[in-house]
Amino acid sequence: MKPLTFQTPSKILIEAGASSKIGGLLKGYKATHVLLVTDEKVRAAGLTRNAEAAIAEAGIARTVFDGVVVDAPSHVIEAAAEICRECGVDAVVAIGGGSALDTAKLVAYLAKTPDKLDDIYGVDLATGDRLPLLLVPTTAGTGSEVTPISIVKTPNNEKKAVISPLLIPDWVILDPQLTLGLPPHLTAQTGIDAMAHAIEAYTGKIKKNPTSDQFALKALALLSANLRKVYTDGSDLEARSEMLLGSMLAGMAFANSPVAAVHALAYPIGEIFDVGHGLSIALVLPYVLEFNRPAAEALYAELSDVIQPGYRRQSDAADAAAFIAEIEAICRDCGVPGSLSAVGIGEGDLSKLAKGAMKHAERLLVNNPRELDDDQARAIYAKALAGASRP
Ligand SMILES: NC(=O)c1ccc[n+]([C@@H]2O[C@H](COP(=O)([O-])OP(=O)(O)OC[C@H]3O[C@@H](n4cnc5c(N)ncnc54)[C@H](O)[C@@H]3O)[C@@H](O)[C@H]2O)c1
Ligand SMILES: [Fe+2]
Repeated sequence: MKPLTFQTPSKILIEAGASSKIGGLLKGYKATHVLLVTDEKVRAAGLTRNAEAAIAEAGIARTVFDGVVVDAPSHVIEAAAEICRECGVDAVVAIGGGSALDTAKLVAYLAKTPDKLDDIYGVDLATGDRLPLLLVPTTAGTGSEVTPISIVKTPNNEKKAVISPLLIPDWVILDPQLTLGLPPHLTAQTGIDAMAHAIEAYTGKIKKNPTSDQFALKALALLSANLRKVYTDGSDLEARSEMLLGSMLAGMAFANSPVAAVHALAYPIGEIFDVGHGLSIALVLPYVLEFNRPAAEALYAELSDVIQPGYRRQSDAADAAAFIAEIEAICRDCGVPGSLSAVGIGEGDLSKLAKGAMKHAERLLVNNPRELDDDQARAIYAKALAGASRP
């Protein structure tokens, strides 16, 4: 067997209402003053209420930082870390989507070390220490709660990653009640992002391994069985629970077999057009799968009956086509726009986007099952603009 390493958080609590248990969990770290990292919308929706009450009941002081901004800009992270240092914070809790989680992961690190954010972009450059860290996702989602990754928007709108095992939290708390009010369009977009994590992990060229495969397969089964349900009925707690579990498992898969061209092509859409991560993924996903098909046909075929239980396998070619068609159908049924034009992208933007995608060659495109150059990236965007994934 090929040697492999697999990293994941050691402590996970999954329970409706679990955010009420945060006070007790923090006591395990002898926390006296917690920074609660969230955003205004999430707090206004009451999603931090139970956790805040539990922290107070445990006799732990708290400072709330609700200044998280979508896509974790570097200045926001630095400001929150400064608040930690000023207030003598000794533990960090995040409640929110991937942006809040990514912010908190770096805040817990920067508050404890003299390192500067600018110096730790890349792999394993964050090597110091961090504060105890508890992550509570409210989207299903990025899987950020289990990955060693934080994605940061730099002042020139580039997305850069800090990757270090230190960013894996001490506790992951999945409380599906917190996702009940996620609006349908965000439910769909974040859910498709999670599916993309599982698919890209399963077809990863370099680090795909038997462990990441198991997580990816279970994640895809859960996500595909429940995404349409939660899109049409957000109050279905069981389906919400399975989505949250699926997105965490997808996170475990891609934390160990990283994502590839879908993400490389999605990032420039977010960087240049200020489009949310999930939507930018959903806009390119079927088109990248179609491009990858010649290299990934057998693997896509293996996923065909995972996402469509009862589907009768025929041949790799037919099954891979059925797999891509079902992903397209999920996107369509969940209201994903059929063309890049829906977010203001036109023909004249395609070269700029392709150039942007190539910036992620080293971290992401190396994992893609099929090699991809600038012209091919542009051609994929052109298809996503025309709204036709079939050649
Ligand atoms: N670290 C990782 O491994 C990793 C992986 C994938 C993506 N990401 C990053 O995560 C970010 C995207 O995260 P996201 O897709 O979870 O969205 P997000 O955190 O950017 O949130 C999107 C919006 O949803 C709102 N929201 C979140 N939860 C809600 C709820 N339960 N009810 C109502 N509104 C809610 C937020 O207030 C926000 O307005 C991007 O910056 C992306 O780069 C990180
Ligand atoms: Fe993603």
